[in-house]
Amino acid sequence: MSADYINSPQVRKSFTRASSHYDDHAVLQREIGDRLDAHLNFVKLQPKRILDIGCGTGYFSRLLQQRYKKSELYMLDVSGSMLQQATQQQPRRFPWQAKHHYMQADAQALPFATGSFDLVTSNLTMQWVTNPQKMMQEMRRVLAPKGMILFSTFGRRTLIELRQCLATLKASGNMLAFPDVTSLGNSLQSLALEDLVSDSDLFTLEYPDVMALVRELKGMGASSSAIQHRQKGLYGRRLLRQLADEYTYGNDKGGVNASFEALYAQAWYKKDSIPIYAE
Ligand SMILES: C[S@@+](CC[C@H](N)C(=O)[O-])C[C@H]1O[C@@H](n2cnc3c(N)ncnc32)[C@H](O)[C@@H]1O
Repeated sequence: MSADYINSPQVRKSFTRASSHYDDHAVLQREIGDRLDAHLNFVKLQPKRILDIGCGTGYFSRLLQQRYKKSELYMLDVSGSMLQQATQQQPRRFPWQAKHHYMQADAQALPFATGSFDLVTSNLTMQWVTNPQKMMQEMRRVLAPKGMILFSTFGRRTLIELRQCLATLKASGNMLAFPDVTSLGNSLQSLALEDLVSDSDLFTLEYPDVMALVRELKGMGASSSAIQHRQKGLYGRRLLRQLADEYTYGNDKGGVNASFEALYAQAWYKKDSIPIYAE
């Protein structure tokens, strides 16, 4: 499960460009963040140290802070502008609350020692990294014994309509590839983790037209230039005109529909496993 076509510096640039208006477009991300957070309702864990990877403007990190007020939280993102937005939205810290830290780093090379965190989370970031398996390995490496990993990512049914149109227009190279629940489970199974739970939600979002959908994707930071080998850009004018004709997934309000699938996964540090060190 490696996505070599993702251009990492470009992903960082796309999110940096999107950072100031990211929250206006992030309704779905927040909904998925809320649902990911709800997984913690059923978990017995009092983490001392938490790492939130790809924290963006910090929505999911703030949910973690509310839930675990005494935990020390590390918020990590590859984009400095996203971290800046997160800092600005950070509520005032009371003296009895633990510290939070902001770190600019890559999810695939975490700047932390083996076994540093009791809870490692990530809301909707894995689909952006070049090598999701490496990100999972890193999440597992920095996990302390008795700790838990919890994350969400987009699944295979995400933007299935757009994918079908682009395939017809022979422009599929513009789309990210998303995993299914089974391949995600298999990837996690190959790490020293246990009590694995994965589930999914399918959302249908409505847009006035294809242009509005594409604008939304750009606002989310999903610029096609983040994907290498693009054929003149997902948002090139000619392709957009062709897409408008091809995209026939209308709804009864005169607009168009788009599917988004959220995958959620949680897993525990496998008892008696030996620590994993960075390669
Ligand atoms: C959809 S946003 C995440 C939203 C955030 N987790 C929340 O719940 O509000 C994806 C984030 O992943 C970050 N990102 C993308 N690739 C990354 C990488 N390789 N390492 C760390 N962060 C990355 C982007 O900069 C962006 O802020």
